[in-house]
Amino acid sequence: MNLTLHVWRQASATAKGHFVRYEATDVSPDMSFLEMLDVVNEGLTARGEMPIAFDHDCREGICGMCGFIINGIAHGPSRATATCQLHMRLFKDGDEIWIEPWRARAFPVVRDLVVNRGAFDRIIAAGGYISVGTGSAPEANSTPVPKANAERSMDAAACIGCGACVAACPNGSASLFTAAKISHLGLLPQGQAERGRRALNMITQMDLESFGGCSLFGECQEACPKEISIDTIARMHGDFLKASVLG
Ligand code: SF4
Ligand code: FES
Repeated sequence: MNLTLHVWRQASATAKGHFVRYEATDVSPDMSFLEMLDVVNEGLTARGEMPIAFDHDCREGICGMCGFIINGIAHGPSRATATCQLHMRLFKDGDEIWIEPWRARAFPVVRDLVVNRGAFDRIIAAGGYISVGTGSAPEANSTPVPKANAERSMDAAACIGCGACVAACPNGSASLFTAAKISHLGLLPQGQAERGRRALNMITQMDLESFGGCSLFGECQEACPKEISIDTIARMHGDFLKASVLG
């Protein structure tokens, strides 16, 4: 099939960006979206033009590196699917596709479709871990975990840190990401000692970055490729309030 692409090109964080039109020809429905862009880039390189910059790594939906806005939707039209797992069979011959980077003040554009998500790293560094003394590994069954908690913790741990939740949110809020990280640790026995401090520190760091507040639009949950629930945000607020009141 043949497609018309309108791709956001921006030479640097400070340069003015604009859409550039490209014709993608002979696109196979079996290609992934990123493979289609690879072929477009091969053509650009052959003509001596600068290829379109975009982030990617695993290309199997687990690393969180990929992601842009496709026809106005974070990660494109397929629900619970990261951009790298989107297939061209979802599009049809003659389609026009608009491709833009994540739009959020806290994620400045680096180049073209690449944005700087360092703000997420700083939120994690503020408390997204469990401190343990080094030594030999404990016996696996010495700390029982209720099954329901283990499952909810695993669901939250599925967050790949892609940033689609921020891009989809009208407020540019990082609440779903932060709540997923706080929940997956706070639901486990090993995460209890630092639970209150973790919520306070991570939320404080989130507020220090340029993210907006959460007003429960729910767009984050719809855009999330891992279907993280906004229930985690309620849980995060509970931890924060408890830690603020009880110290
Ligand atoms: S909560 Fe979902 S959309 Fe947000 S960073 Fe994690 S995986 Fe991506
Ligand atoms: S490239 Fe790793 S999740 Fe898409």
